[in-house]
Amino acid sequence: MTDTTPAARLRAEASVEKVGSFPQDFRWGLATAAYQIEGAALEGGRGPSIWDTFSHTPGLSHHGDTGDIACDHYHRWESDLDLLASLAVTDYRLSVSWSRLQPSGRGDLNPAAVAFYREVLAGLAARGIRPLVTLYHWDLPQPLEDEGGWPVRETAYRFAEFATKAVEALGDLATDWVTLNEPWCSSFLGYGKGAHAPGRQDYRAAIHAAHHLNLAHGLAVAGIRAAQPGASVGVTNIVTDIVAASESTDDRAAAVRLDASSNRIFLDPVYLGEYSAAVWDTLGERGLADVVQDGDLAIISAPTDFAGVNHYQRVIASHDDSQPFGVLEVPAEPATTSFGWSVIPASLTAVLTRVAREFTPLPVYVTENGASYDDYVDPNGDVVDTERVDYLRGYLGAAAEAIEAGVDLRGYYAWSFLDNFEWAEGYSKRFGLVWVDYRTQERIPKLSAHWYRRLITEHQAAVAHLAA
Ligand code: FCB
Repeated sequence: MTDTTPAARLRAEASVEKVGSFPQDFRWGLATAAYQIEGAALEGGRGPSIWDTFSHTPGLSHHGDTGDIACDHYHRWESDLDLLASLAVTDYRLSVSWSRLQPSGRGDLNPAAVAFYREVLAGLAARGIRPLVTLYHWDLPQPLEDEGGWPVRETAYRFAEFATKAVEALGDLATDWVTLNEPWCSSFLGYGKGAHAPGRQDYRAAIHAAHHLNLAHGLAVAGIRAAQPGASVGVTNIVTDIVAASESTDDRAAAVRLDASSNRIFLDPVYLGEYSAAVWDTLGERGLADVVQDGDLAIISAPTDFAGVNHYQRVIASHDDSQPFGVLEVPAEPATTSFGWSVIPASLTAVLTRVAREFTPLPVYVTENGASYDDYVDPNGDVVDTERVDYLRGYLGAAAEAIEAGVDLRGYYAWSFLDNFEWAEGYSKRFGLVWVDYRTQERIPKLSAHWYRRLITEHQAAVAHLAA
């Protein structure tokens, strides 16, 4: 039961000092993705992406939910930006839809889509909010999937072309770009497990996809730099905290394989310029050796400006030959979200310090972190999500600890601004700091949104006081 007493509210509104200290110009953000919020799937010349196809295939998404309408942000973007501004955030991470901007996956951009994103970006500027624009948050144009999708090398070149054109069209309104969001999900969930679009179940194809996504990132970095010399560009990876179920040799080897196939396959080539022995041992014969060509690693490791880290869980790995790569993974206990994911703030400190220590000295942004809970509107019309407040306090505290430990963490984007279409889970999982009533499209800032606003404004007041 959610504790809705006045004491609980006070606890929830505790001040920034209790969370930790952050750099003066820390970026306080919220994040979304195009397909999860925009809706208007058939408007403005948008073409189908793999997520339209997947969500419209009976049995694949929870309840048959689709992103056809979602939060109707395409029509409500102006009031949504007012709401965002009212939450005092300094930064907003959004994605642009590839299938809206370039429906066929090649050629000229769709002018109506360019106009839409230009309005949104200008609207953010008018409200003093800096955008961080993700160029690929999973919405591959369906025509490119019909030609083979990410397991096919050509798709990497298509993405680089798209990214370059998008930056040419929008680069006067944004300077910060994330090439790909969580290529692990696009490849392993999409082509291996089949739980995400396009829903294929072929781990060899998934490994091919993973390399081509890495290549797509590297090619896009070059295109973006050519289009906008002052661009700040990076890739966002989900970095999972992995621990072995036991000290046994088998379980420890399973943890290494899981780390190789979820973290290292993406972090190694971008930041270290090679696939490590753990990655080759785990994935080489299973598909990686089929697709890596001479020169690829030099392209993939092109210098970037920041490292994007999404973090959600700690998982426990044990040896199990019946599972992909011989690893059974289960979420760590004890506390869990409505997704069954662990709530262990120390894991965020662990992954941030690991990225800084093992992979890159670049500035880091937590580009996503958040939790789904079974929120509800109470009889007063409030959404008192004390669990999410506790979650944010814990994870922001963990972020502050990483900073104290020397990580050059420059910002945090909570997932998510709005409740939204949670991929295969449809509308059943609410991650928003703002509640969305999907029948009326009413928005209600949850207690967590009020708490976050207070955290940000207190931080800014302290900075202003120091400056005075
Ligand atoms: C991440 C995705 C994001 C959202 C959260 C809950 O993996 O990048 O779109 O679905 O999970």
